Amino acid sequence: MEGLLKGKKGIIFGALNEKSIAWQVALKARENGASLVLTNSPVAVRMGSINELAEETGSKIIAADATRMEDIENLLHQSMEIFGGQFDFILHSIGMSPNVRKDIPYEQTNYENMLKTFDISALSFHRILQTAYRLDAIREWGSVVALSYVAAQRTLTGYNDMGDAKALLESIARSFGYIYGRDRKVRINTISQSPTPTTAGAGIHGFGSLVDFSERMSPLGNATAEECADYCVVLFSDLTRKVTMQNLYHDGGFSSMGMSLKAIEQYQKSFDECDCDEKHKG
Ligand SMILES: NC(=O)c1ccc[n+]([C@@H]2O[C@H](COP(=O)([O-])OP(=O)(O)OC[C@H]3O[C@@H](n4cnc5c(N)ncnc54)[C@H](O)[C@@H]3O)[C@@H](O)[C@H]2O)c1
Repeated sequence: MEGLLKGKKGIIFGALNEKSIAWQVALKARENGASLVLTNSPVAVRMGSINELAEETGSKIIAADATRMEDIENLLHQSMEIFGGQFDFILHSIGMSPNVRKDIPYEQTNYENMLKTFDISALSFHRILQTAYRLDAIREWGSVVALSYVAAQRTLTGYNDMGDAKALLESIARSFGYIYGRDRKVRINTISQSPTPTTAGAGIHGFGSLVDFSERMSPLGNATAEECADYCVVLFSDLTRKVTMQNLYHDGGFSSMGMSLKAIEQYQKSFDECDCDEKHKG
């Protein structure tokens, strides 16, 4: 796969530390010949280890809060200066829910928090796409990818308002995918990734059990951050020029499963350990 992005240039949002999916994407994109601009919120740039990634990949860092239009405009202007004009790809790898962080359950949601969840995790994608469209920043046959999760389609306990945010994110990819395809010949897709042990992932209530459950349910097992990075590279490459407006599952088959042998065996064990009369009821 080496050299798939030779000569291509792109912006990577969301590399906080080496566990971040965006971190792995930056490494693989660089390995494949791409030049990068890395970005994250000002606080993440200060607190995280993005400097190490910038050094390793020979990239510039431009801090931008993805909820602030002026930050996004500045980021895109500066990136175009660095790249000497248009560039080829963008990775949106941003997610945060104050409700999840504060353990406020969905049925008691705080609407200010919920709006922040949508702003950070979904509207940021619209903001980036709108600004890039206005600046005509993405080259013909370019590619934009945002990271999503199956909770956009199916309810998973604990995922809270992030499920709604991901549904919005995927819808924005389709809505802008039409406009970008029609006017600019640029692709826009979302990748729906397996649960992955990262800083954002670990914030989800019961995340360890979720990882274990989807591992047992997926015929190919959970997809890792590195594997997700491989898929991103393919979607940024010229091998997928007619793939657009799709939500692409990268989850070892989880999203098509109902029940697996491995999961049912574990489920059965919980009954075997319990000696209550009602154990097989329902
Ligand atoms: N980890 C998982 O289980 C999983 C599964 C499917 C999809 N995803 C998605 O992958 C993406 C990346 O998450 P991750 O798991 O690598 O975790 P992560 O914590 O490493 O990355 C999340 C990033 O969002 C950034 N961010 C938060 N607020 C921001 C703001 N206002 N402006 C700019 N950036 C901001 C953070 O600084 C961080 O770098 C997210 O969209 C997440 O929802 C994660």
